[in-house]
Amino acid sequence: MNSKKLFIETLGCAMNVRDSEHMIAELNKKESYRLTENLSEADLIIINTCSVREKPVAKLFSEIGVFKKHKKEGAKIGVCGCTASHLGKDIIKRAPVVDFVLGARNVSKLKDVIDKKHSVEVDIDFDETTYAFGEYRANPFKAMVNITIGCDKSCTFCIVPATRGDEISIPSKLIVQEIEKAVKGGAKEVMLLGQNVNNYGKHFTSSDETCNFTELLQKISKIDGLERIRFTSPHPLHMDDEFLQEFASNPKICKQIHVPLQSGSTKLLKEMKRGYTKENFLNRCEKIRTLCPQSTISTDIIVGFPNESDDDFEDTMEVLEKVRFEQMFSFKYSPRPHTKAAEFDNQIDNQIAGERLTRLQSRHTEILDEIMDSQIDTIHSVYFDELKPNGRVSGRSDDGKLFFVEGSEELLGKIVDVKVTKTSRGALEGVLI
Ligand code: 5AD
Ligand code: SF4
Repeated sequence: MNSKKLFIETLGCAMNVRDSEHMIAELNKKESYRLTENLSEADLIIINTCSVREKPVAKLFSEIGVFKKHKKEGAKIGVCGCTASHLGKDIIKRAPVVDFVLGARNVSKLKDVIDKKHSVEVDIDFDETTYAFGEYRANPFKAMVNITIGCDKSCTFCIVPATRGDEISIPSKLIVQEIEKAVKGGAKEVMLLGQNVNNYGKHFTSSDETCNFTELLQKISKIDGLERIRFTSPHPLHMDDEFLQEFASNPKICKQIHVPLQSGSTKLLKEMKRGYTKENFLNRCEKIRTLCPQSTISTDIIVGFPNESDDDFEDTMEVLEKVRFEQMFSFKYSPRPHTKAAEFDNQIDNQIAGERLTRLQSRHTEILDEIMDSQIDTIHSVYFDELKPNGRVSGRSDDGKLFFVEGSEELLGKIVDVKVTKTSRGALEGVLI
């Protein structure tokens, strides 16, 4: 059969990656689509956008220009995701070549918008927590499963509550079913997704359901054939002792935890509305290290938030020194529409923010080099999930380190012990033992 061809570009976070898989599944429910990386042969072009910082938004309209130039006659263009949510119909006003706009919380409406010229679905109150998406995974060994949609916080720098709406938890039964399907498809590891996963259970649509994140982890651990559970992202505010005990003692939970700091300054954390202080944050990290010394901790940091003084920045440096994050995603503050901080006085000079970012990243690089160098000859059990060029396969250790070994598809979906033979900043190389 001559199926249609889909070109899909996904920007941003893991949530968007899973949303793109859901879109492909929805399209295939309607008619068969084959993925292509060649823009000019596509019948449908989708860009799944991110709006957390300004740069990707600016890029969107130049990308649409490229699509317009290279697309074949009659091919449709859809703009989806977070930028679709916050710009809505303005996207079509500015770029009438766009056929439809589909917000990050409206993925299940793809089939409604696809044939309606210039339709726009960006309702951020829409509830798709019980919607049965079709089946599609780009890689059956990398199983991402949503557990919540939206966010119930209002961090003053963040546009996400305005693009993904209020938080709703997905019923635990549906989550378990979805993971069981992924395990049947070959996955041994699952990645649970949500804006604040450890707030799970606070906002069910149905009042009958009660299940908090710790209980959800316990239910998921019982799934036969599932060996590893990861999740992203938890919020430091909801890292109570019960949850950290479960994290430390449940052997199926991978010993890597993301604890987004944002800033080390208590003054700025208050202005960011994060709900914790520098001391609370350090206390939670110490607790993780006490309960689970083998765990690695990763983080997100913003520099140059309005009003950030040299002393505030030193607080951030101090937290980096104390916690020694294994992975650090760091960003220059970017003022976003629909956020409180965009209107704050004392926006920080771009050059100062740039210098702070460089200093933070250089120090982190030194720490990372020390951590990685200490790994030589150590043994890790690695879940292999991706074929790479030149006869290599990649995977992650229980504590989240990226590994490459020589091998073939027979390794995919297996957990094997690996001895580290070579280290670098981003990844480790090793041999199977
Ligand atoms: N500017 C810079 N970084 C931001 N993030 C969220 N909003 C902004 C912003 N306005 C970062 C935070 C968040 C990560 C996903 O993106 O660190 O944890
Ligand atoms: Fe944004 Fe804060 Fe919600 Fe995270 S918790 S998505 S940073 S508002």
